[in-house]
Amino acid sequence: MTRFGHFDDRAREYVIERPDTPLPWINYLGSEEYFGIISNTAGGYSFYRDARLRRLTRYRYNNAPSDVGGRYLYLRDAASGEFWSPSWQPTRRELEDYRCRHGLGYTVIGSRRAGIEAETTYFVPPGQTLEVWRARITNHRDGPAALSLFSALEFCLWDAWDDATNFQRNFSTGEVLVEGSVIYHLTEYRERRDHFAFFACSEPLAGFDTQREAFLGPYRGWDRPRAVEEGRSAGSVAHGWAPIGSHHVELALDRGESREVLFVLGYAENPPDAKFDPPGSTTVDTRRVRPVIERFLRPAEADAAFAGLRERWSETLGALQVVTPNEHANRMVNVWNAYQCMVTFNLSRSASFFESGVGRGMGFRDSNQDLLGFVHMAPARARERLLDLAATQLPSGGAYHQYQPLTKRGSDAIGSGFNDDPLWLILAVAAYLKETGDGTILAEPVPYDNALGSEAPLDEHLQRAVGYTLDRLGPHGLPLIGHADWNDCLNLNAFSEAPGESFQTAHNREGGVAESVFIAALFTLAAGELAAIGERFGRPRDAAGYRDAARQMDASVRAHGWDGAWFRRAYDHFGNAIGSAENEEGQIYVEPQGLCAMAGIGVDDRTAERALASVAERLATPHGIVLLQPAYTRYRLELGEITSYPPGYKENAGVFCHTNPWIVIAEAILGNGDRALDYYLRINPSAREAISDVHRCEPYVYAQMIAGRDAPDPGEAKNSWLTGSAAWNLVAISQWILGIRPEHDGLRVDPCLPADWDGFEATRRFRGATYRIRVRAQAGARGRVTRLVVDGRPLEGTVVPPAAAGATVEVEATIGPHYS
Ligand code: BGC
Ligand code: NOJ
Repeated sequence: MTRFGHFDDRAREYVIERPDTPLPWINYLGSEEYFGIISNTAGGYSFYRDARLRRLTRYRYNNAPSDVGGRYLYLRDAASGEFWSPSWQPTRRELEDYRCRHGLGYTVIGSRRAGIEAETTYFVPPGQTLEVWRARITNHRDGPAALSLFSALEFCLWDAWDDATNFQRNFSTGEVLVEGSVIYHLTEYRERRDHFAFFACSEPLAGFDTQREAFLGPYRGWDRPRAVEEGRSAGSVAHGWAPIGSHHVELALDRGESREVLFVLGYAENPPDAKFDPPGSTTVDTRRVRPVIERFLRPAEADAAFAGLRERWSETLGALQVVTPNEHANRMVNVWNAYQCMVTFNLSRSASFFESGVGRGMGFRDSNQDLLGFVHMAPARARERLLDLAATQLPSGGAYHQYQPLTKRGSDAIGSGFNDDPLWLILAVAAYLKETGDGTILAEPVPYDNALGSEAPLDEHLQRAVGYTLDRLGPHGLPLIGHADWNDCLNLNAFSEAPGESFQTAHNREGGVAESVFIAALFTLAAGELAAIGERFGRPRDAAGYRDAARQMDASVRAHGWDGAWFRRAYDHFGNAIGSAENEEGQIYVEPQGLCAMAGIGVDDRTAERALASVAERLATPHGIVLLQPAYTRYRLELGEITSYPPGYKENAGVFCHTNPWIVIAEAILGNGDRALDYYLRINPSAREAISDVHRCEPYVYAQMIAGRDAPDPGEAKNSWLTGSAAWNLVAISQWILGIRPEHDGLRVDPCLPADWDGFEATRRFRGATYRIRVRAQAGARGRVTRLVVDGRPLEGTVVPPAAAGATVEVEATIGPHYS
């Protein structure tokens, strides 16, 4: 039982108390256009909008020692010649009082050594394309201290993929300019780029370096740069090789004296016809950017921006705040899960310490699901995102699997033909409509495949998504799976035999009949949502058609998707059942058990209940619910990537955290509050904090996967931060356990609580009004809401109608004895 820090709930921070965490524990800076990843030892990198194409600073993944390369400062004591890094890395010299406070959009790293305290706050001011490092150095010695402070970062030559591979060119292209204490990174600016990076310091410089080799010295690493060791920069101006930015500031501090030194790293663009000063020269025009740089080098401006950032997050998180009897639920709902949802909204699956930023852009399926977790915090941004996503939809109703954030164009780079993809758009639009009531989005003209002239109302896009499934049904009346469905690794048509071939882009063998019960359930859910949209927004006739289609699909699942004690997963290329007791391995999969109940399939005839009992018996472990059992032990050509993973990892019987909240929701739908909360807590990061040595990833955010019971190290998490687990867990706890659920007609308050809770309180922003909700459970009661009082008046049912914007609505709900 080892912790590496603690939650500071009041400050909304996680405080890491020792630098040698099991893995780098990271945070994100920025939430608009400029982003940075920062670890607890100041490792990481920054980029503008696109982690691959506009990478500002360089980072080497998979490095040894790990996580070297970041936003570094070094302190050197002139008297002893001793030097260290106040963020521990890269020198890794011993520190006193090390602490890293990861907060919402900022990180503070502080420590003390030899009587010198240093604390650095890293953040991106709202509305800016730059980051501030505000360092405060304090001399706690008995006498004066003569210190050198060095900054150091390595520039990336923009395209991170090219930067990591194309050395024959890149070693000759690097260019910089040093003007006063500003280092400009200008590679390719002379030719086709109209953007550049800058790295500035608030103090007069004793020296600088911009060529890596000159700063480090030959055959040295960042742990022992020659310039720092000697206390003297070389004044190098990079041409080719590896441009870096390093400032050298001398500080003479009296006993007890404190000094602030600010650094600003940022991204700037010039108009293409005003790149140079004077015009016609090849010298970058810095006149537009200089005032911005100067502004944020002033402590008062930086402070104001920091305060603005904190305020912004308070405002964002104010959309939902709860006080429940469970501190882990409170902490995740109020702060960390909500925060993670905003991060997944911003970054999809592009840049983390498990996603390299050069591969996966914005996933179509992923981004739609991410929206479920942030729409209440940022409805306007959700609207924009929906239109962007829909604009990449194909005329067939299908979807590109991903799009690039800079161009907003769809791409097949990581595969195509995932037949579940388009249906997620319906779920996301439904969530947006329920949250905002803004039906105008349905009429919004949106192109297909971004082609000018192909614009059609968003509503039509949704209809085509349904049509896409109906046009592709297999012999059991279930949807054909295509390349795969939500489970990217269930590749039933790929038959991949070539070593190293990507399972995701592998060619599909024609002529098969592989069908997905999962897509059937998703379709049933989505068609139901589309019907409700039709009923609500004036298309009742279409609505009836969609209800019908949902009913038929429901019937197909009951007829061909039920295995006797749980729902089957799929039928393979040849029509054999998968996820069935008749299989040798992979007899039961988690996904359809959750999705079917969510779609209402089997809820009335108790098959859903039986399926959930099977989940409890076969899939639930203390570390969460594993994806399938028994794990596949050998590679199966007809199943694809899922069988490529060793047992217990990833889709092959790992605890795939994304799926767990589906079961939580299913349990809540069936009224099992105890089980719902129990499952919720098994993977709740805060609840797992006490076993950080086992879990190993950050205890403040969800990871994609926790190793399952078949792995050698059950309970070990991997792939933290960018995962659909964030959105779905927030939905599960807030909308289904706490039961505060936006619907077309208003805000439903219909909790499903564990027996030992006596209630909870919540504040929810909804369509401009504020709902103050108090739920009281009568002693021993285990049922649902039996009495709802809104602003003093009793109300039938559990839906609170929307109030006028600006209003505060008092909602009191009483949970009475079980009534079913
Ligand atoms: C992973 C999946 C992921 C897919 C995306 C696979 O290797 O196992 O979790 O969805 O790649 O391309
Ligand atoms: C991660 C992917 O990002 C997501 O789209 C997929 O559904 C899951 N893996 C399951 O394979």
